Amino acid sequence: MASVQSVLDQLSYGLYIVSSCSDGRCNGQISNAVMQVTAFPPRIAVSINKTELTHEFIEKSGLLSVSILAQTAPMSLIGLFGYQSGRNINKFADTSHIVSPRGCPIAIEHCVGLIEGRVTGKMDAQTHTVFLADVVDAKAIGGVPMTYAYYYKELKGKAHKNAPTYSGATSAPAAAAAPSAPATPPTKVTTPPSSSPSASYVCDVCRYIYDPAKGDPENGVPAGTPFSSLPDDWVCPICGVGKDQFSAMK
Ligand SMILES: Cc1cc2nc3c(=O)[nH]c(=O)nc-3n(C[C@H](O)[C@H](O)[C@H](O)COP(=O)(O)O)c2cc1C
Repeated sequence: MASVQSVLDQLSYGLYIVSSCSDGRCNGQISNAVMQVTAFPPRIAVSINKTELTHEFIEKSGLLSVSILAQTAPMSLIGLFGYQSGRNINKFADTSHIVSPRGCPIAIEHCVGLIEGRVTGKMDAQTHTVFLADVVDAKAIGGVPMTYAYYYKELKGKAHKNAPTYSGATSAPAAAAAPSAPATPPTKVTTPPSSSPSASYVCDVCRYIYDPAKGDPENGVPAGTPFSSLPDDWVCPICGVGKDQFSAMK
């Protein structure tokens, strides 16, 4: 008999940047849980984890935008908006975006369409809030939309513990899965110190730190394994990118 989660995993999703604003500050996050709920009026729903800064901003402003990601969206963009928190960095500092007349930021890089909504209702779903928003503006850009399946199969992305679809079954343990960047980002060096087997490496996408002293026992890498000795097919236990997307730390 299939588990409940394995059946729910057959549901289809896209990938989006959901953004909002508060007191002149802009922030956004990756979400897969976005859907249209009615056509008359045009209305969407998004499910946002209560711990996220974007949740706080949507609550405060009653505004949100949805940028529909294209298949061309790189892991670096998904990592920035999906594995780092606006509490530590300004995600829009180097991301092309517009700000609507109502003050809501809307990411435009690698997007096929843009939607802005005004919150008209919400439902408490324990870990998440489901926000209902009436569409106040929408713009088509064009291209092929990113699906969640494409993110998994082609980009080798992983489920995020704050996504409403995350069950924990196939993902890294909670301790390793802390998605937020440290308050002070780790310092990277451009040339890996090959002479230092004890050097830690940071994932450029999600900021996971590989510490040789700890290894990655969950994935068969014993403590004491230098980064250079990791198998070629080892991937970041948090976001799934390969070793080539790691940088040595001082
Ligand atoms: C592929 C993917 C899908 C995600 N889907 C959701 C989602 O639907 N809802 C949600 O609340 N968080 C989701 N997240 C997690 C947030 O994007 C993540 O926690 C983000 O860092 C929150 O940023 P913030 O604190 O700046 O708002 C997802 C992350 C990824 C990588």
